[in-house]
Amino acid sequence: MAHPIFGALPARVRVVEVGPRDGLQNESARIPTADKIAFVDRLTDAGLGAIEVSAFVSPKWVPQMADAVEVFKGIRRKAGVRYTALVPNLAGLSRAREAGVDEIAIFAAASETFSRRNINQSIDESLATYRQVCEAAREAGLPIRGYLSTCFGCPFEGAVPPARVAEVSARLIALGAYEVSVSDTIGVAHPGQVPEVLDHVFQRLPREQVALHFHDTRGTALANVLAGLQMGVATFDASAGGLGGCPYAPGATGNLATEDLIYMLDGLGIDSGISLPALVEASAFIESRLDHRLPSRYAQAARAAQNE
Ligand code: HMG
Ligand code: MG
Repeated sequence: MAHPIFGALPARVRVVEVGPRDGLQNESARIPTADKIAFVDRLTDAGLGAIEVSAFVSPKWVPQMADAVEVFKGIRRKAGVRYTALVPNLAGLSRAREAGVDEIAIFAAASETFSRRNINQSIDESLATYRQVCEAAREAGLPIRGYLSTCFGCPFEGAVPPARVAEVSARLIALGAYEVSVSDTIGVAHPGQVPEVLDHVFQRLPREQVALHFHDTRGTALANVLAGLQMGVATFDASAGGLGGCPYAPGATGNLATEDLIYMLDGLGIDSGISLPALVEASAFIESRLDHRLPSRYAQAARAAQNE
């Protein structure tokens, strides 16, 4: 039990691991398909219950995700774990079904310019595309997750009205998403802002349908998670080692590192079912395939201690 100073925190948190997708989509090094598969398998072994394995997006737009079908076909699947992927359109859904995904994620934005740059459609156009995708996914029995980008700020437009975040979130739920991952695409959110945005979102969505997705560009991601926990959010996205960014969000760096998140959750007595040592092993593996170090502070400390 956490100290009463924090108020009532969730007893258990669901972590959605996005490193193989949000992380690797942004790496300039070409990662062989076999290494992506080995990375996902290590994440499975670390106890993650939801792993975003890849994205069935246009390979012209994001070449790093071109081998999505092969990655899915190669991973070792553990019962009870959801292996998920981004799907932007019906062509993506058809590839996702061929690959045998357990769940799909649609991804819209709260700002028009980001929507155009990321998926070449206005917000309304993208929701019309997703309506078709969701109808077909429902018929195929696939659960649908929704992402909403630029909820805390847009790299092109600056401030984004929280009322618009709430409105587009509600539209994603109306399309059939079981939850919306309210995303800080460029890592500008801070704990002064999180309650304001969530207050608006909670006017339209129950908190059980809200997840939070932070990038750690300005070092505020963990503090934002704490604010989210205090407001009753119990699902958070993170990437092993803090891999990540977004190819269409200039300046966006990695996601909140899963290790750093789990260290804080463990300290607060919040159960996630995830093994920190196994996670550090997974991120060390993928780091060894990159040309730079991963930013997770916990992982760096753990590796330094191992090398002593
Ligand atoms: P477009 O160019 O407007 O559409 O792209 P198009 O239909 O003209 O397609 C262009 C080409 O791609 C065509 O090939 C299509 O066949 C092909 P061509 O005829 O020129 O040979 N194509 C596909 N191929 C395979 N799978 C597909 C597919 N779709 C089209 N699914 C489109 C529109 C939406 C496809 C494109 O803009 C796209 O793929 N965008 C994705 C960009 C992306 O992946 N961004 C990063 C993920 S979002 C993110 O990171 C944010 C998040 O983390 C939350 C946060 O932090 O904010 C989720
Ligand atoms: Mg992201």
